[in-house]
Amino acid sequence: MTGLLSSVPYIPQSRVRSDRVCFEFVVRLRMSSLEEPLGLGDLPKLSINRLERFSPSACRASVDDSNTNNYKHRNGGNNQTIFHSSAHSWHMQGQYTDSSCNGVLWDLPRFVKIVEVGPRDGLQNEKNTVPTSVKIELIHKLVASGLSVVEATSFVSPKWVPQLADAKDVVEGIKHVPDVRFPVLTPNLRGFEAAVAAGAKEVAVFASASESFSKSNLNCTIKESLVRYRDVVTSAKIHGIRIRGYVSCVVGCPVEGTIHPSKVAYVAKELYDMGCSEISLGDTIGVGTAGSVLAMLEAVMSFVPVDKLAVHFHDTYGQALANILVSLQLGINIVDSSVSGLGGCPYAKGATGNVATEDVVYMLHGLGIETNVDLNKLMDAGDYISKHLGRQSGSKTTTALRKLTT
Ligand code: HMG
Ligand code: MG
Repeated sequence: MTGLLSSVPYIPQSRVRSDRVCFEFVVRLRMSSLEEPLGLGDLPKLSINRLERFSPSACRASVDDSNTNNYKHRNGGNNQTIFHSSAHSWHMQGQYTDSSCNGVLWDLPRFVKIVEVGPRDGLQNEKNTVPTSVKIELIHKLVASGLSVVEATSFVSPKWVPQLADAKDVVEGIKHVPDVRFPVLTPNLRGFEAAVAAGAKEVAVFASASESFSKSNLNCTIKESLVRYRDVVTSAKIHGIRIRGYVSCVVGCPVEGTIHPSKVAYVAKELYDMGCSEISLGDTIGVGTAGSVLAMLEAVMSFVPVDKLAVHFHDTYGQALANILVSLQLGINIVDSSVSGLGGCPYAKGATGNVATEDVVYMLHGLGIETNVDLNKLMDAGDYISKHLGRQSGSKTTTALRKLTT
């Protein structure tokens, strides 16, 4: 803790009230971690700017001037509320008040782009392979809800991930809609070429901050994976294809335990420098807390601009929404999630699905943050796939709202 405390700059008395809240907030967050306090001695120091980001003077506009009750849906363009029934006022969009400025919730983005990963991250881990037609219908329903980025599938070895062996058919079967993107995962040049041949316009490569996880997931070291990805990026540039980079195990690894933030920062920087337009930081096994996530993000943000970062939280320990909130407070406005909380990673035993998109949308709208997503239509997409899989939705929001309306 000595190194941690000494990294916090002197705070003038005139700012004591507001910054004390902020100071305690930062220190408390930084104290908790996966198994033990992270060794933060060699992390970048907190700057005054960073502290000022947490100051109430940076509080965003109140409900009236941000017009949060009047979102325009991308597909319909009409003002709408999330729910058919407005009887339960706590369910309404934009129901936050000036209390959000009382030292806790400030400086949040006005718009968050949600990257829906259910059809890929969700379905890659299903015991029974989902038929191609169901995958395509799910993707269409997700698009109908207003989501503008839906990760469709992976062009990986069918021996390793048989659930997504129909990647070509899925990509060919999707109805393309203007302004909606359907990235696909590609682990190597071979996957990239197959994806492009099938018509994919955007791809994602996936590296890891943990050496052990890289070996189990990709059968190669981190360095070897980065060499492969350089080839993919070079080819993507030639084809004018946008490329996203994932970093897995950004907080913890099923084999190695705690992952130091500097390892995450290294891989994120490598992916960014080679030309990935967006870096998604994956807590693959969902062990992160607001404290360990904050430390990790601050390390990465020293090397990659915040507007190029996305967060990808699996919700194994129920920490994902808290982790998203901390990420938003740091300025991140791209969030990955999975409809109905589907998923997990075949190479991370015990890890559950991503945070449910419905729960993320519910939280964001409650904070007055726009997403362009219609929660009712999103829940319909979730019901569709949950029914097909023969189980209840993993979204708490859906579970609660369905109880109210049935
Ligand atoms: P390998 O066995 O080391 O490589 O696999 P290989 O080159 O020796 O190839 C083995 C076989 O796969 C060969 O076939 C290749 O032709 C074939 P065989 O000759 O034995 O018949 N092959 C391919 N087939 C189709 N498409 C390809 C391809 N490449 C080789 N692109 C490889 C290396 C990377 C291919 C393999 O390890 C693999 O496919 N891994 C994918 C693992 C995966 O998809 N994991 C889940 C996604 S990552 C994730 O979920 C985390 C994330 O959500 C973020 C987070 O949560 O943290 C993104
Ligand atoms: Mg994942």
